[in-house]
Amino acid sequence: MILLSVGPSPGALALPFVASEIAAVGHRVEVILEPGTSRFVGPAAFAEPVALVDGPSETPEAVLFAPAIAATIARLARGLEGGPAEDAAKAARAAFVAPDLDAGTAANAAVLENLAVLGEDGFGVIRGRGSGMAGAEEVVAGFLRGLGGPMSGLRLLVTAGGTREPIDSVRFIGNHSSGKMGVAIAREAVRRGAEVSVVAANLETAEPGTETRIVETVEELRDEVLRRVGGVDALIMAAAVSDFTPASPVREKIRRGEGKTTLELKPTADVLKAVRQKNPDLFVVGFAATHGNPVPDAREKLVSKGADIIVGNDISLEGLGFGAEENEVYVVSRARAGERFVPRASKREVARVILDSLLAEMTKERQR
Ligand code: CTP
Repeated sequence: MILLSVGPSPGALALPFVASEIAAVGHRVEVILEPGTSRFVGPAAFAEPVALVDGPSETPEAVLFAPAIAATIARLARGLEGGPAEDAAKAARAAFVAPDLDAGTAANAAVLENLAVLGEDGFGVIRGRGSGMAGAEEVVAGFLRGLGGPMSGLRLLVTAGGTREPIDSVRFIGNHSSGKMGVAIAREAVRRGAEVSVVAANLETAEPGTETRIVETVEELRDEVLRRVGGVDALIMAAAVSDFTPASPVREKIRRGEGKTTLELKPTADVLKAVRQKNPDLFVVGFAATHGNPVPDAREKLVSKGADIIVGNDISLEGLGFGAEENEVYVVSRARAGERFVPRASKREVARVILDSLLAEMTKERQR
């Protein structure tokens, strides 16, 4: 059981989300609202299966104080008399604080010392970019990574999104990939304790809890993947990578009447293949988007790309795959005969199955 102690400061607004995300990973979550918290968030904001309690029903596995105001930080650091959450933190295997301070308080010498003491005492301190509480996703990621999980110690590189190859200064060859599948995989892996690095083609924002680099073209994606791949245990190539690029892109805008009406293309690098050739021991997951039954194509790509797992999906199905919230996939692996079918499910569910397969196959390969 995980106990969340919600403090009285603006960061409390994010806690219903934090609580439900931690519960979604499979933890039982109990929440204590500290006195004064109702000015920021009320009990009705916490939905099942999260339970509101006055005191924990048992010794929790971990306690998260979020938002943690200066008084809470001081009480915890100095071992002062506190409420049931402070008592529970002493008995729990792990405890975390997500400070939520104004700039002046955050710079105060006593507060800084208290935070240092907490760090020395083994508390996980989840910091934001400024003095206020870290963003909701960062709190979830920081907490789950600190807690450890089935993927802790594992370093993953995930590519997401779709590449864009410039034709001129305003046009490009792109694709319909929204990046949702790759992002769902990265997010789920963070939640399971993995260290996750993301190379995102044309996504707007970095995924919290990961080391994200946003790129545009196949060449940039390939360079960034090759640069990072030496430091990871597995690569998940969820990005939709263009197979062609204009042979002679133009720096300025091609005007009507000026341009030729045919576009000459040349092939791009196959990133997956290039990575596999240079890193024979890396665990590699690729994707195969196919019209119709994806299994034969996925099986062929396992061999031609040298991947350990290929996730195949039928892009002719309506409301699934590119840009959609849901997907339906076959997970085909080299080490195992047969394939795993994941019927229509949220991309988060699909991500979970892909990561389960990755863990199972990696464990098998390591035992070999
Ligand atoms: N891929 C890649 N580099 C490319 C094209 C694709 O690394 N230039 C990766 C994709 O990220 C995906 C896998 O290869 O994980 C399969 O992509 P897909 O576009 O389905 O296959 P292609 O290699 O393009 O082959 P085909 O077009 O013949 O299906």
